[in-house]
Amino acid sequence: MNDKLREVLQAPVTGKGDLIPLLQKAQEAEGYVSEEAIYAIAEKLRIPASEVFGVLSFYAQFRLRPMGKHNVKICRGTACHVRGSPLIVTAVESELKLGGGEDTTSDGLFTVEKIACFGACSLAPVMVVNGRTYGNLSPDKARRLIRKIAEEEHV
Ligand code: FES
Repeated sequence: MNDKLREVLQAPVTGKGDLIPLLQKAQEAEGYVSEEAIYAIAEKLRIPASEVFGVLSFYAQFRLRPMGKHNVKICRGTACHVRGSPLIVTAVESELKLGGGEDTTSDGLFTVEKIACFGACSLAPVMVVNGRTYGNLSPDKARRLIRKIAEEEHV
């Protein structure tokens, strides 16, 4: 257990109403909500772990797996949608062999998120990779960018 998570779990609680804030803090501490955190939170709040899992699966904000090393955010806001972001999503997911709702590659290198407007609509369609914004993308450009990062990882 990392120190940040340990700190989260040591904070005082008043009852079940603390479940969501605790899960949010656990996710901040680890980047996702680990199984270890789930059982520790259940024990701390004296509720069954199944209840914690129920809340986790209800809210899309919670991640149950670690983020990939490279974070790819693709805008799905209106301007980007109109200018082809669904094709960018398809190209990137296909390049990374992501399917079935998976957002992280099996090797843990990439996580792909679909995000609402980044506020850079004049650059639509937009993708942000590791915090850097790429605009006026085509599916081909997006695919090449991802491929380049993947190749650098395997050098
Ligand atoms: S809609 Fe994509 S940046 Fe605004």
